[in-house]
Amino acid sequence: MAAETDEGTQRKNGLYREVSTELAENMRQGWADTERHGLTPIPQAAYTARRRARLSARFPGELLVIPAGRAKVRANDTAYPFRPSSDYVYLTGDQSQDAVLVLEPVAPGDGGGHWAVAHLLPRSDRDNGEFWLDYHGELWDGRRNSLTENERLLGLDCADVRTLADRLATVTGPVRLLRGLDSGIDTALTGRSAAGDDDEFRSALSGMRLVKDEFEIADLRFACEATALGFEDVVRVLAGSGPTSERRIEGTFFTRARIEGNDVGYASICAAGPHATTLHWVRNDGEARPGDLLLLDAGVETRHLYTADITRTLPVDGRFTPVQRKVYEAVYAAQEAGIAAVKPGAAYRDFHDTAQRVLTEHLAAWGLFGDRSAEEAFALGLQRRWTLAGTGHMLGLDVHDCSRARTELYVDGTLEPGMVLTVEPGLYFQSDDLTVPEVYRGIGVRIEDDILVTADGNENLSAGLPREADEVERWMARLRA
Ligand code: GLY
Ligand code: MN
Ligand code: MN
Repeated sequence: MAAETDEGTQRKNGLYREVSTELAENMRQGWADTERHGLTPIPQAAYTARRRARLSARFPGELLVIPAGRAKVRANDTAYPFRPSSDYVYLTGDQSQDAVLVLEPVAPGDGGGHWAVAHLLPRSDRDNGEFWLDYHGELWDGRRNSLTENERLLGLDCADVRTLADRLATVTGPVRLLRGLDSGIDTALTGRSAAGDDDEFRSALSGMRLVKDEFEIADLRFACEATALGFEDVVRVLAGSGPTSERRIEGTFFTRARIEGNDVGYASICAAGPHATTLHWVRNDGEARPGDLLLLDAGVETRHLYTADITRTLPVDGRFTPVQRKVYEAVYAAQEAGIAAVKPGAAYRDFHDTAQRVLTEHLAAWGLFGDRSAEEAFALGLQRRWTLAGTGHMLGLDVHDCSRARTELYVDGTLEPGMVLTVEPGLYFQSDDLTVPEVYRGIGVRIEDDILVTADGNENLSAGLPREADEVERWMARLRA
């Protein structure tokens, strides 16, 4: 499938004006058959089959269309690295660009359910020159799996995606489409699905992902382990001689993410000094100086595309100052209480409310609410000036996973074994906040861990990184030695 803009590539290759008949004939021949035989299914194939079966049962008799998405233009003819849509990955285990999963309803007389077909780009044709004359042919972009190879790897039927629009034109009956991912498919199905039905479909897919299966939990565990290695790399950089920059910290973590996984799961927040009070600090263009805190919020995305989401707030020179420690220990106490509230049967909101109460009590003890009690301040939400954000969210293929799930299942729901969520309280005192004593200004602290709900409580998947202040200092000293 052609790129949306490839004029720049054409211009570059325009240095070659014409293709002679001899060259065309030459390029057609002399290529070995590289078809791979004896492939075995990818490890998640059994899981993706079960997930598709659940989706099928939820929407009997309807045509279900889940695109992987297309490359996004970065500038002119350059694209961002491609990352397929999470729902497509969840249902197929595949990561191909331009692909579309289609679940076609099967008549009850023929067994019912759905026939799942992954529509993919096949190998490039060599006879018609496509493999080298199309600038996204395999000669330029690299070998793709053949459809037969993909059938074996993914454990589902595969077809040429270039025939899909025509095929969809012939299908009758109700359709549900995950819109906004593939403009070609959106156009092909214009008027075929109701916006409300598509919203319900998106929400159902998001809700299906709330409880993780064994494959997902194992991968999230790996993401946390790889992320811990990245944090250790950063601590070693902090110990180095010479100035350290947020950019170097970002690059250090990114190197580990690419070595161990696919990418970072979201833009790393490498916030030193007062930048730590800006929740979405991703500019990362400052210095990290001794005496400052570094708030590092980063996660490795694995090769299966599950991400960790971990924050540690570290003294750049390895030792907390007394006031930094005071704020840190308040956040730590809130996180401990929040994590303890994560258990099956608990309301999702419990860990948030619990952590917020602990933070409010500390703020009250420090006199930040004047004459008001912690109870009063909490009832009015006054702590939010310094706690800013919610205390966590679901985690999985997306950093803010399952965000389209129905409110009753998520924010107003109940925790179940297999759910994975972050617990990430923080305190953020802006540099220009005249309502707090000057010593607090410019201090931002967050501690964030990735918590699996188990049958009888929870497991901290990111426990490989220390959290308690003395342990953090000892860990840093060991890595700096
Ligand atoms: N890193 C994004 C978050 O913590 O939610
Ligand atoms: Mn988070
Ligand atoms: Mn985070």
